[in-house]
Amino acid sequence: MSGATVFVARRVFGDIVDRLREQFDVRTHEADTPLSQPELIAALQGCDGVFITGTEKIDATLLDACPQLKAVCTMAVGYNNIDVPACTQHGVVVTNAPGVLTETTADFGFALMMATARRISESERFLREGRWKHWGVDMFAGGDIHGATLGILGMGRIGQAIAKRGHGGFDMKVAYHNRSHLAPDVEASLGATWMSLPDLLASADHLVIVTPYTPVTHHLIGASQLALMKPTATLTNIARGGVVDDAALAEALAAGTIAAAGLDVFEGEPVVHPALLALRNVVLTPHIASASVPTRRAMANLAVDNLLAVLGGGAPLTALNPEVLKA
Ligand code: 8YV
Repeated sequence: MSGATVFVARRVFGDIVDRLREQFDVRTHEADTPLSQPELIAALQGCDGVFITGTEKIDATLLDACPQLKAVCTMAVGYNNIDVPACTQHGVVVTNAPGVLTETTADFGFALMMATARRISESERFLREGRWKHWGVDMFAGGDIHGATLGILGMGRIGQAIAKRGHGGFDMKVAYHNRSHLAPDVEASLGATWMSLPDLLASADHLVIVTPYTPVTHHLIGASQLALMKPTATLTNIARGGVVDDAALAEALAAGTIAAAGLDVFEGEPVVHPALLALRNVVLTPHIASASVPTRRAMANLAVDNLLAVLGGGAPLTALNPEVLKA
């Protein structure tokens, strides 16, 4: 589509945005802060496509106000910020960025789980605060990773990549809960066993949450689920805030219902529940699981590839509503 106009809603690698400039009239929001909804709507006037991240909200109100829009391309794999059915109704193609961030995100999930079990942040704070006066036999003694039971909630690409690390690298027993079972040969290669959610919670030494956030997974892990876990267990969430009830988690951590948590995502982020901030037994990171330079570049390049395809009349690589193209 010659003469198309594209809006890039966040500061992104300049050379990757230049790929869009070769084809389209490109407008950018150069700041690293998200636009408010009215600002986003205003910026999208006259735009055919938009490059977004996981933070810009695309809903029916925005679509009604931006009738020229034809393509919404996010550099994230998660798309709970996009009302895909509303986009389909408005004839807008939506693409996301699966695949390119799988291994990097799995690396981080594993690292966060290990940091949580082995109390790395807590012990570093202790050292930096000048409180290390002598060595102690049980000083910052935590749980083991090797040989332990790794519980994975959500067994998509990233869940399987975490299972591979646990099974192949750390000799862990792998249990998972997912709507669908993996094929038997995949289960065998990952040493993975499907369990009901209550059984998974009761069995896991280290629970890692990688399920998408949907109305069905909202507060999937709350007080009654946490109560099923071992007091020595850890919980790591790299999925989305909202899958876990953060207030209930903070209470469980304070009460010793579970031992520790590693959280990269939060309900209402970037605001973090104050009860979590006050705890010693949590490792908190600012939604950075996919943040390696090569991966963030690959995510941005995939969103650009998709914009070039949709607005150029080609087939997008990773469309969430390909039916719009056929219509
Ligand atoms: C991103 C993510 O960092 O891809 C996702 O779903 O949560 C993260 O990898 C972020 O959303 C990118 O916009």
